[in-house]
Amino acid sequence: MSGVDLSIDGAVATLRLDNPDKLNAFTPDMLTQLDQHCATLERERSVRCVIVAAQPAKAFCAGADIIAWGALSPFDFARHWVRDGHRIFDRLARLSHPTIAAIGAHAFGGGLELATACDIRVMAPRATLALPETQVGIVPGWSGTQRLTRLLPEPVVKEMALFGRRLSAERACALGFAAEVSDDPEATARAMAGKLAGTSPMATEVAKYQIHAAVGEDRSAMIEALGGAMIGASADKAEGVDAFANKRTPEFPGR
Ligand code: COA
Repeated sequence: MSGVDLSIDGAVATLRLDNPDKLNAFTPDMLTQLDQHCATLERERSVRCVIVAAQPAKAFCAGADIIAWGALSPFDFARHWVRDGHRIFDRLARLSHPTIAAIGAHAFGGGLELATACDIRVMAPRATLALPETQVGIVPGWSGTQRLTRLLPEPVVKEMALFGRRLSAERACALGFAAEVSDDPEATARAMAGKLAGTSPMATEVAKYQIHAAVGEDRSAMIEALGGAMIGASADKAEGVDAFANKRTPEFPGR
């Protein structure tokens, strides 16, 4: 049975792809489970960092399950595969917690798109990145041509998507896509997560959202959320709510 497991150990949550016999390829069940785990994490205030990892296999994730999506009608492919994948990967990208992908082996197609939805990536030296979709007659569908092009130079994404070129861990690190190359990416990710424990959770969350707004990751929602947080702390808001609840005219203090 394929799945995505969620475990929480103190301040660190781990999402782990579990489909090693199929190189951790993403099945519909795995998408659904990732969505449910993101919903859990959105309400989990004790967690300070989320690590995205996979069961040991030749691939961290060899992409979306070709047999599963291959059986879908064109409209179901668009509605229930491409759009669900987008929505769920967006949900992961927009978690308030910092996220780190620990890429112990190859990350292809949807596996690369999953890692791209994280804030930071650590790669094993043998891990490579690829967008092989055109070789199976489709195009990257879970933001590989969009979010990935914000993190890697456009010609590099074209080399990968059009020419099938694999990107080595070393080159991915030199280009800034991977923060570090490590023989044990998960241990390195855990050490990074440990450092976050001493930082302000609120400042970290707001900094993440500010950077998202700067690069266009859900920009308009990020601006509204930050504005909402600012006004939500004001005496004007407290007065407005109190006046409404007590059926009186508000007297806003302007602070
Ligand atoms: N979807 C479904 N099953 C997949 C898969 C995928 N994306 N990638 C690998 N698998 C399965 C294989 O079918 C095989 O299953 P089997 O043992 O029942 O035959 C198993 O995982 C092992 O893969 P295999 O191809 O035998 O391993 P390999 O070492 O020879 O090759 C890859 C590894 C990654 C190069 C190769 O599996 C591959 O090209 N996978 C598809 C990558 C891809 O196109 N991803 C984008 C999909 S949109």
